[in-house]
Amino acid sequence: MSGAASGRGRGAARSRGRYGLASRLRSGFRGRGRRWELESIVQDSGDRSESDRLLRSLATTGATVTARSRASRLGLVLAGAALALAACGPDQSMLSPMGANASRAAGLWWLMFWIGVVVWVLVTAATLYALVRRRRDRHDPLTARRWENAPLVWGGIVLPSVVLVLLTGVSIDAMRHRDHPDASQATVVQVIGHQWWWEVRYPERDVVTANEVHVPAGRPVRLELTTADVIHSFWVPALAGKIDLVPGRSNTLSINTDRPGVYEGRCAEFCGLQHAKMRFRVVVEPESSFQDWLAAQGTSAAEPADDLAARGRQVFLSASCVYCHTIRGTAAVGSVGPDLTHLASRDTLAAGIMPNTKGHLGGWIVDPQQVKPGARMPSSDLPPDDLQALLAYLGSLA
Ligand code: CUA
Repeated sequence: MSGAASGRGRGAARSRGRYGLASRLRSGFRGRGRRWELESIVQDSGDRSESDRLLRSLATTGATVTARSRASRLGLVLAGAALALAACGPDQSMLSPMGANASRAAGLWWLMFWIGVVVWVLVTAATLYALVRRRRDRHDPLTARRWENAPLVWGGIVLPSVVLVLLTGVSIDAMRHRDHPDASQATVVQVIGHQWWWEVRYPERDVVTANEVHVPAGRPVRLELTTADVIHSFWVPALAGKIDLVPGRSNTLSINTDRPGVYEGRCAEFCGLQHAKMRFRVVVEPESSFQDWLAAQGTSAAEPADDLAARGRQVFLSASCVYCHTIRGTAAVGSVGPDLTHLASRDTLAAGIMPNTKGHLGGWIVDPQQVKPGARMPSSDLPPDDLQALLAYLGSLA
């Protein structure tokens, strides 16, 4: 290996060593003398593809961080500007609207953008004109006085007033004309913000889940949003505008799209330490899939299929998990953390920040503070065999 290449290799290893999720987990485990637990999760999983997926995803995390650490400051600024314009990615852009309300918001955005462009061009032209004219005026002070007030009146008072009144009117009009179905015309979904995750309820079917909002394509959905603690803000850029979740009141937002897909959303109001890790997904699916999902979510938890899972359920019910989580059909009825009745049916863990795999779930249970410092979930001291059994049980809750 050449010197440069090995230098790059060492740099990459250093970056991964410092920031990678793998190393964070590793150092967490090592720090507690429990590195072998992660290894045992991977080795004992029996499902090689599962452990391979974990290792691949950990490697990807490291590679991403390495690339980021090498980006120049200019690159970061440009990337930041691009992200701000696009609201963070292809499936998360308010400029690729996938529904009536989102289209209205995008239209408003483009109107403001082009008016901004016109204003910028006018101001730049006026600045250039002033520079040129000032030079000429040195020889003709009388002309200067004649022009003194006109630009000030037109450019400083009349034009801004017209633009602001126009934009205010258009914004109010867009707000008044957005879809706003009442409860009888729409699928009602209740969303409750928590530090730092989302509780999602379907009151008509007694379904409770977390961090994933499933909605039918082609039918209006009425979201009723409130919070259990501080103010949060629900924002799924491609589907709808954003709205705050305010203590003591219920706000509504509607989604109506006929484009099935998975749309990323996030909390858009600073709500504490892990605000940035308060994500969610909106899964838009055809009517029949949605009804199937709803029916499955409405059932109690599956009975353990084997001895290991049965032992896992016993571990769950005798450990501190039971105080905060509900698993319908068992004695666990806690309400501090997410309902876990159908945990294995969800794609992500910890409010959208990790894929829902056995390895990630194991790392999360053993040391959540390493992954999401400040989260309400405490670390656990489960012996490895109990942890394996618990993972088998939670993995069976489809
Ligand atoms: Cu919840 Cu930011």
